[in-house]
Amino acid sequence: MSSLLEREEQGRKPPYGRALDVGTGSAIWGIQLAKRGWEVTGVDVVGKALDRGRERVQAAGVEMKLVQGDVTRLSAAEVGSGFRLILDTGTFHDFNVEQQQRMARSVDALATEDATVILLCWSRRIRPLIRGVSREDIETAFAGWQVTDVEPSHFKLPRPLEWVLRPDEHWYRLRRARAL
Ligand SMILES: C[S@@+](CC[C@H](N)C(=O)[O-])C[C@H]1O[C@@H](n2cnc3c(N)ncnc32)[C@H](O)[C@@H]1O
Repeated sequence: MSSLLEREEQGRKPPYGRALDVGTGSAIWGIQLAKRGWEVTGVDVVGKALDRGRERVQAAGVEMKLVQGDVTRLSAAEVGSGFRLILDTGTFHDFNVEQQQRMARSVDALATEDATVILLCWSRRIRPLIRGVSREDIETAFAGWQVTDVEPSHFKLPRPLEWVLRPDEHWYRLRRARAL
């Protein structure tokens, strides 16, 4: 992950621009972005997760805006626009096709022309926990965007769960096809 971020930061000085942490949960990843010098907004539909996120943000001593909203309807969530980086760790891969497409359209509308989208997704379905997505699913939802990089996350579960669930998680980097 850090190599993917370094690529977006290369040749620039902080602040690197606006970043949107989609389905931020308790803001773990958003805080990492804020520490690196991004101006971060996190959005999540669950109020309790955001409460925990606010505690974490305060404890970390960073600036990060947290907004309650549905990532498949971001225009109604008042998160703003002009995002150079959109990060989603674990939300998109659990959506059905219609939700995936709505999220992708929402992201597209808020992203700058030179924006990068980074998704962390499980590739295999883990019933009833995770729907899972393929590279093709991602490119279908993100019409007008292209996957430029795929990297294994090397995520491991404790032994018995590792054997049963066989996690197959990847980082996907997307850019607008017309910007390539
Ligand atoms: C697996 S958690 C990942 C949380 C965080 N990104 C992380 O990596 O720690 C998925 C998050 O997506 C949020 N989520 C699910 N559906 C959502 C929706 N339609 N709009 C906004 N957030 C949603 C959940 O509340 C949850 O916090």
